[in-house]
Amino acid sequence: MVLPKRHFLPLIIFSITVFIFYIYHHSSIPSSIPQFNPNFTLRSPIQNPNPSPISPNFTFIVKVLAFNRLDSLSRCLRSLAAADYLGDRVHLHLYIDHFAIANGSSAATVDQKLLESHRILSYADGFDWKFGEKVVHYRTANVGLQAQWLEAWWPGSDDEFVFVVEDDLEVSPLYYEFVKSLIVNFYYNASNYSPSIYGVSLQRARFVPGKHGNKLHLDDKTRLFLYQLVGTWGQILFPKPWKEFRLWYDKNKAKGNRPFLQGMVTTGWYKRMGERIWTPWFIKFIQSHGYFNIYANFLHERALSVSHRDAGVNYGKTAGPDSQLLDERSLDFNILEMRSLSSLKWFDFCFREVLPGRVVRNIVEVEYLLHSLQKQDSVFLVNLFGVQDALASNMLCHFERLNIRNYILMGPPSDFLFDLARRGHPVIDVDQFISSAGLNKLTSHGSSFDAMKGVLVQAYVVKKCIENRYNTWVMHGNLLLTSDLLIESREHNNDFFVANNLELFYAKSSSSSEKVWSNGFVSKVIAMADSLARKDSPPHGSLSFVYVVTKLLEENGARIERVDETTFGMKIGSGNDRISSLGDKKLVYWSTEMELDSIQKWLEELSLWSIDSDLSCTAVVCHQS
Ligand SMILES: *[C@@H]1O[C@H](CO)[C@@H](O)[C@H](O)[C@H]1NC(C)=O
Ligand SMILES: *[C@@H]1O[C@H](CO)[C@@H](O)[C@H](O)[C@H]1NC(C)=O
Ligand SMILES: *[C@@H]1O[C@H](CO)[C@@H](O)[C@H](O)[C@H]1NC(C)=O
Ligand SMILES: *[C@@H]1O[C@H](CO)[C@@H](O)[C@H](O)[C@H]1NC(C)=O
Repeated sequence: MVLPKRHFLPLIIFSITVFIFYIYHHSSIPSSIPQFNPNFTLRSPIQNPNPSPISPNFTFIVKVLAFNRLDSLSRCLRSLAAADYLGDRVHLHLYIDHFAIANGSSAATVDQKLLESHRILSYADGFDWKFGEKVVHYRTANVGLQAQWLEAWWPGSDDEFVFVVEDDLEVSPLYYEFVKSLIVNFYYNASNYSPSIYGVSLQRARFVPGKHGNKLHLDDKTRLFLYQLVGTWGQILFPKPWKEFRLWYDKNKAKGNRPFLQGMVTTGWYKRMGERIWTPWFIKFIQSHGYFNIYANFLHERALSVSHRDAGVNYGKTAGPDSQLLDERSLDFNILEMRSLSSLKWFDFCFREVLPGRVVRNIVEVEYLLHSLQKQDSVFLVNLFGVQDALASNMLCHFERLNIRNYILMGPPSDFLFDLARRGHPVIDVDQFISSAGLNKLTSHGSSFDAMKGVLVQAYVVKKCIENRYNTWVMHGNLLLTSDLLIESREHNNDFFVANNLELFYAKSSSSSEKVWSNGFVSKVIAMADSLARKDSPPHGSLSFVYVVTKLLEENGARIERVDETTFGMKIGSGNDRISSLGDKKLVYWSTEMELDSIQKWLEELSLWSIDSDLSCTAVVCHQS
């Protein structure tokens, strides 16, 4: 090993001592730590010491979307008026779409339509709404459901909430009490607030859009949960995400983008119905922003809002109620009993559980994180130092496609990194990790300090992974896995595997690799990385995890397999020939000097560019769970 300059030696010894002490101190953690650490859950940035139950500016508006179905509308309004509003002022806004005037309609048909409209208008005028203002908006031309929804609301403030109700819905008299409790608990209580929540659905969660619209299965114990899908049969919208959606829609519509999302049944709807419906737009927005909706599971097909599925835009002929309306009589538990946000489960468009907010800041939390991972036998530790956001996002889409679910991303703290955690990708904040281990006392050397921090965190996390019986891959974000079969291409006798000129390393879970990777080994990694960082000009590429670890492993006589990266990987950007096929290569890599535009072009050519201009995946890929 390379000796550090003499006058720094005491400092290094001190740091190593701190580190070893830390490891020792925390090694009493049992290896079977129960479940998920609630401390991971992201907190609201605004911590109000005296949370008021609700803002005095809280406003609730019911937005009813009607057309030409008087019987439906009257059933709907009667149910809304029968709800208990707890003495609150609640407004009613009624949007009545105009009929379409088809070419060549007979005078009699037009007269008939005019008569229908007038009956609806006079019913609306005569309808007594005693809880707040009633506003009727009668359109001059047929706008359809998309504009009815989208133009129904521009939030007047961050305390204004709307409940959008299509006219063939019927609501439970209990709905408002329930919704208000949710808003108090999940919007106004800072400890249960999440910027990811866009609203509340009162309909029963029924299908999984990423699985061909298959029926959704939920256990009987789950009462409240979060699910990405919007529920159009009784949706409460929160102001901030809705405003964001309107602006996003505007931008995408104006630029001629379409809300295509491969793998989703709703994309098929869009292809058939086009701009007559609005949900494909909203779903695409939700996917690109990583947002969620609150749902309740009241069992026995019960819900606080049911759709009678009357004949109209969505149904050619009346299909009948989708659920049972929950009313007082059928109530056998307290629907107002609230939970803390950290106790709820989150589900994506595949109805696959998502664990948001896992930001690891210290050694103890690595252990928690490993226990929150899926029961797969490998872990991928990905270093995002110096990796552009687009490349990291693209890589994650490929993980989804390959069903690689056990990965840990590590990088310096950034909005992007924390946003990945909010969306459910586990991350390590390298700076916090280093300082929690006392290693920030090592002398910093600008960019070489960054590289060194990466090496140290990797050395530590690999140790934890091996201890927890995971086969561990360490890779840099400047490469892209195109197959999950990498492991099969290697010899199984060796504990370690390394690519010659790539930041790619593999440690097998075995008692011999665990023995090599002891505390003493991690200390050696620290010492060597530190001494390299201190050199005025460390040999090119030497301050890398693969370089340091390989050298030390070889000194320790470990069995290590060195493979030339070109046997399983394809380098892009070198030479002028465009390659249009991967052949049997398991990964693609490029030089760190290569420009993003150029990387993107190459990956597009290989059909490996899987993100859109929002950096979100162009497909939702569900796997058998
Ligand atoms: C959560 O954080 C609190 C305060 O920082 C701490 O006392 C507690 O031990 C932590 N819980 C876990 C499970 O780590
Ligand atoms: C309520 O709204 C008024 C007027 O916009 C504003 O000045 C006030 O700060 C708001 N109060 C709260 C508690 O948000
Ligand atoms: C009605 O006829 C006019 C003129 O022929 C045509 O431009 C328009 O597109 C037609 N509208 C519909 C709804 O068919
Ligand atoms: C806010 O939520 C926390 C966690 O669920 C709960 O303990 C606390 O009582 C709530 N505060 C109020 C004012 O309801």
